[in-house]
Amino acid sequence: MITRQDYLLREDITFLNHGSFGACPKELLQEQRRWIEQLEQQPVLYFRELMHQMQKARTVLADYVGTKASNLVYITNSTFGVNVAAHAIAQLLQPGDEILSNDHEYGACNRAWNAHAVSKGAIYVQQHIPIPVPNSSDLLELLWSGVTPKTRVLFLSHITSPTGVQLPVAELCKRARENDIITIVDGSHSPGHIPLDLSTLGCDIYTANCHKWMCTPKGSAFLWARDQWLERMKPLVVSWGSDIPTTKDGYFVDEQEFLGTRDHSPFLTVPYAIEWMRRNSWESVQNRCRELTQQGVKMLCSIGGVRSISVAGQDPLLQLGTVMLPDNTDTDAMKTWLYDERCIEVVVHRWLDAPILRFSVHAHTSESDIRALVGAVQEYLDNGISA
Ligand SMILES: Cc1ncc(COP(=O)(O)O)c(C=O)c1O
Repeated sequence: MITRQDYLLREDITFLNHGSFGACPKELLQEQRRWIEQLEQQPVLYFRELMHQMQKARTVLADYVGTKASNLVYITNSTFGVNVAAHAIAQLLQPGDEILSNDHEYGACNRAWNAHAVSKGAIYVQQHIPIPVPNSSDLLELLWSGVTPKTRVLFLSHITSPTGVQLPVAELCKRARENDIITIVDGSHSPGHIPLDLSTLGCDIYTANCHKWMCTPKGSAFLWARDQWLERMKPLVVSWGSDIPTTKDGYFVDEQEFLGTRDHSPFLTVPYAIEWMRRNSWESVQNRCRELTQQGVKMLCSIGGVRSISVAGQDPLLQLGTVMLPDNTDTDAMKTWLYDERCIEVVVHRWLDAPILRFSVHAHTSESDIRALVGAVQEYLDNGISA
């Protein structure tokens, strides 16, 4: 069984924010270290064999997320992936064409769309999702109601960052496809967290981080595209690429993955991480985490003025628990108090003027971590520190 001792996490901190940057267990860091040492022992040999090793690592990850190795490349993070996608799609847009998104998206990705598409005359539409968040079928209709005759692209997160809500991606992609709308999904929070099968999800382009919920070293993520998009996905950093083909996997892989001398150890550690998850019965790890998340949400919602982010109650399938705090909560002050006075690392912020607390539950999280959070929130609100 995986425990907190398997991680480097500091003992004095109740760490309930796995969602922001992940946390990598010692065993996976050791595997990463093994790759780094192999490189430093014989750098030239390492780079000679690298293409083959990367191909193997790509195949294992592709299998894990239900696709082929030729449609997927390793990238450093999903912000990078969104940039590549936005740049590629922007070439197809006319001034006035609309990219439909929503107001729960990650800020860096909004900026990527602005830089690549809005600057050329496209319109980035952020459909409003109210808080508390409607149930999945209402959410589907609400997001879809933002489609106009000018909508060419739908961009959305699989699980939103500021509010920890799973969006009805498969249903939206199906409708988008029937209406010739290109779909791009930011799956930063999905791999290792919710089931992911790219062969059936139905989107055109998908990018995600491994370094969050799969616990791999920082700088391990992927970008996936359907066959028809591969040649359009031009590299943002131009290196040797397909002038000197390095793999049999084609243009997309050669152009996107081989960007000169850089650290490949986070990517090469991914197959080991997938094996580590299997060896540790990931499904049962996840079931425990989901239960603990639900318990945490329930306990927090029993505190006066705290309620679920979702009108239908917390989505039972996630390891992110999100609640709304009393309206008058000074979220910055509360976050600082939780960290400075109670050593609790958790997300507390205002989103669309709603005061929100988002906690993460992962293999290293214990019931006592959740009790510590609930006790501290109760103490803070009872003492009227928020008034
Ligand atoms: C929904 C979402 N998209 C994108 C990102 C960016 O991830 P990265 O910094 O690894 O690119 C995050 C990070 O928290 C996120 O939650």
